[in-house]
Amino acid sequence: MNSLNGLKIVITAGPTVERIDPVRYITNDSSGKMGYALAEAAQKAGGRVLLISGPVSLPTPEGVIRIDVLSADDMLAACQANMPCDIFISAAAVADFKVLSPSTFKIKKKYDDDSNIVLYLSKNPDIIKTISESKKSNFTVGFAAETHDIKENAKSKIIRKKINLILANDVSDESIGFNNDENELLAIDDQFNEYPFPRATKSKLAAEVIDLIVKLH
Ligand code: PMT
Repeated sequence: MNSLNGLKIVITAGPTVERIDPVRYITNDSSGKMGYALAEAAQKAGGRVLLISGPVSLPTPEGVIRIDVLSADDMLAACQANMPCDIFISAAAVADFKVLSPSTFKIKKKYDDDSNIVLYLSKNPDIIKTISESKKSNFTVGFAAETHDIKENAKSKIIRKKINLILANDVSDESIGFNNDENELLAIDDQFNEYPFPRATKSKLAAEVIDLIVKLH
């Protein structure tokens, strides 16, 4: 029987939130369903699971410890504070950019002119790359959310982010991926072996992906 045998599994899920001012922010459509399904499957497979989650409206899976975060910087800090781990799975949709200088007060609209405002964005840290380069995770699993050239882009993320396994999903299909109950995944390992997972509920896919991780890690 496949089992994670008490291994420490850290999983990120959900979106990050990047503040513009106290009442506005930049985020994305991630519901957390994929990451939470993986957390539940990993716990059922015998893992000690820590879920680091952006803001979502999902209950914490039974037996899973959850840490809530907002921004990508917060998520990275929470991940680093909880290393080392045996397996790190990055299912979160981390914002690639944050507002360079968020305002501490509400930015007011000017009524007497039509001028635009400019929002400068700076790069967020790459969480999975930082964790894999730190070598504090023995086996690192990422996702690739792609709209085109899915396989090629996923393979280049394996190399660029130095990860062991990538789960590519086509987020141009509005019936799977972001904020849906179903997904379809192509897993590719660091030797470029491919493992297709046909469309199914995220909960079924998560159990199958955890089985694959048990075999490969
Ligand atoms: O949450 P759901 O509604 O269930 O939707 C699931 C999902 C579509 C969000 C999920 O299946 C998914 O694809 N998650 C990764 C989304 C993403 O950010 O993909 P990416 O190709 O931009 O990033 C590649 C990898 O790097 C991902 O593992 C991501 O978590 C990680 N990353 C990205 C940017 C960043 N600054 N730091 C990161 O660690």
